[in-house]
Amino acid sequence: MNIVVVGAQWGDEGKGKVIDVLAEEADILIRYQGGHNAGHTVIVDGEEFIFHLIPSGLLHQGKVGLIGNGVVIDPEALLEEMSRLQRRGIDVQQAVKISDQAHVIFPYHKRLDLLEESTRPGRLGTTGRGIGPCYVDKVARAGIRIADFCNPQAFPKKLRQAVEEKNRLLKALYNEPPIAYEELLARYSGFAARLAPHVVNEVRFLREAMAQGKRLLLEGAQGTLLDLDHGTYPYVTSSNATAGGACTGAGIPPTAIHRIIGVVKAYTTRVGEGPLPTEFGPELMQRIRTKGNEFGATTGRPRRCGWFDAVVARHAVWVNGCHSVAVTKLDVLDEMDTINICTGYRNGTKTLEEFPADLEVLGHCAPVYEQLPGWRTKTCDAASFEELPANAQRYVKRLEALLGVPICLISTGSGREQAFKTACW
Ligand code: GDP
Ligand code: IMO
Ligand code: MG
Repeated sequence: MNIVVVGAQWGDEGKGKVIDVLAEEADILIRYQGGHNAGHTVIVDGEEFIFHLIPSGLLHQGKVGLIGNGVVIDPEALLEEMSRLQRRGIDVQQAVKISDQAHVIFPYHKRLDLLEESTRPGRLGTTGRGIGPCYVDKVARAGIRIADFCNPQAFPKKLRQAVEEKNRLLKALYNEPPIAYEELLARYSGFAARLAPHVVNEVRFLREAMAQGKRLLLEGAQGTLLDLDHGTYPYVTSSNATAGGACTGAGIPPTAIHRIIGVVKAYTTRVGEGPLPTEFGPELMQRIRTKGNEFGATTGRPRRCGWFDAVVARHAVWVNGCHSVAVTKLDVLDEMDTINICTGYRNGTKTLEEFPADLEVLGHCAPVYEQLPGWRTKTCDAASFEELPANAQRYVKRLEALLGVPICLISTGSGREQAFKTACW
């Protein structure tokens, strides 16, 4: 049995926590897209760990974590993350595997990301990690893959070509100083030598693992509304965060995926620019941001918060083919008197039930809300659905009805134990 866990809103839904809970029963944990723009938080015994490139389940001993071909890898960021895990007693030398087909992020990608952000007419609010420019090179067939990077014969030539091209671009478009090739080559050859022992042919590695009956847990980064094709374009990331990306980004066939779990917060957040139809006014924004500690795990930026948006979540359930949904951060709503759920968008006299592609149309829409009573009771100690206050049960049941699929996991706190689930595997 292989499972994909995917964000069903705008990222930061609590995927890291859900992966950590499910990872106990998995053998191989896989990241399939994105890069270190992701920040996935896991809290065990009060100690926080934020994963950026390495799959979030690795705090469980004896697991393998594979970084798939669909991921863009900043070698320096990955090596730092490996050192942090090593200090936590995880044997990263054994545990971490890297696909030879993943693409490498270089400092010029980061520079271009920042320059593009500062010169484009409307900012996107990217994480500034070089993610977009690296995927641009991949699609333009000008990227450098891990296989090239870790080949000391091929790498200098490929890097020289890339640097010459980027230097022309930096000068012509931005009048910026050039990149020093020799210095970059020396530093990055050092990183390549350290990462080389982790590199595998991922297609073979996973085929053999599946033949031995190993269980795969695939971890989406970002979320459905940040997906390059299915999100709020252009306010999206540059990869396919949705479940389809799990096949192309990990080199496994669609038929090898048996379960897809979407993750939603009990409300909605987004970080960066772009539409957020159910965004709170200033007072509620402040309250929920503080209570939910809604600050980016990667950049520390305050997250924008709003009511649960069932139009968004239904879109995500459909596009990903979710069999079930995990709901996190229910506890953040504990003190509310009443809670709104957006069930549709009103556009003039029409009510839209589908998420529109045209952001101008979306801009003219007003959310249609349904109001439910709050529960005004702590939920963090609940060990089962039955132990939740009646109005919290009612809220969850209403979400389930609106989504049209079962809720398989409920999280009521950031710690590993603060979650209960039905059979997910
Ligand atoms: P991810 O990117 O989807 O993995 O999510 P992040 O880690 O960026 O953000 C989720 C945040 O919510 C983290 O700070 C988690 O520790 C925290 N969190 C996860 N589940 C819960 C929950 O049920 N309740 C509360 N209060 N915090 C949670
Ligand atoms: P996790 O995996 C939330 C957002 C950025 C920006 C847009 C494009 O932790 O859920 P990029 O740097 O990817 O080109 O930025 O996408 N973004 C995220 N928002 N969670 C994330 O990851 C994100 N990764 C990127 O804020 O709006
Ligand atoms: Mg995050």
